[in-house]
Amino acid sequence: MHSKSKINSYLNQQQKLFGNELYLQLSTVYTNKLNEHTQTETANKLEKFYKSIYLCQNCKLGKTRKNFVFGSGDSNADLFLVGEAPGKTEDLIGQPFVGEAGQLLNKILSAIGKNRDNGVFITNVLKCRPPNNRTPLSSEISECQPYLIKQIKLIQPKLIVALGRIAGKTLLKKELTLNEMRKSKYNFFGIPLRITYHPSALLRNPDLKRIAWDDFKWVKNYLEK
Ligand code: URA
Repeated sequence: MHSKSKINSYLNQQQKLFGNELYLQLSTVYTNKLNEHTQTETANKLEKFYKSIYLCQNCKLGKTRKNFVFGSGDSNADLFLVGEAPGKTEDLIGQPFVGEAGQLLNKILSAIGKNRDNGVFITNVLKCRPPNNRTPLSSEISECQPYLIKQIKLIQPKLIVALGRIAGKTLLKKELTLNEMRKSKYNFFGIPLRITYHPSALLRNPDLKRIAWDDFKWVKNYLEK
């Protein structure tokens, strides 16, 4: 049904039930429409932003990458996840977290009732793969950081979760161990930030899974508040 006739039939039904007392019902319809509009607007802005940066050559990684990995997910996400940098598979496919660590991340998200297309946006500190997955250089992080900040400003998530020490240290601008970083809630450009283990660390050391699970339970509760 066309959305205008849907609204008309809804209003007729409401009028039959409640007469002319339609104020609350109408505001619900209006808010839903407004949300749809804002969502499309954010998706369009993200797309436009992607098109303005995907040919980036601000650092040397522009020469060695196969694909610029912008990030993916819901433009209306309440949860914004930040990893370190694309790996080999991500570089080939152009999407973040599609390798083994990504499979584990999908399971974690599903355990907190989320999935990558609904309420979640995933990206990395670096948008291009460092050769042989070496640790990002601080010059590469500085060049790339404005992209991350703009993505966060466009999406306006309820919570940012940094995955791993590199993402945590980049957003916090502090040298702490991951175990120290994960103990507090911080703020990044006005948006709450938590830091937890990178899924690759959980693959290497399964004993950390229980601790990471405590963090993700906190994330679930926080998002449901
Ligand atoms: N590790 C990351 O930090 N990011 C990815 O996209 C994949 C693996």
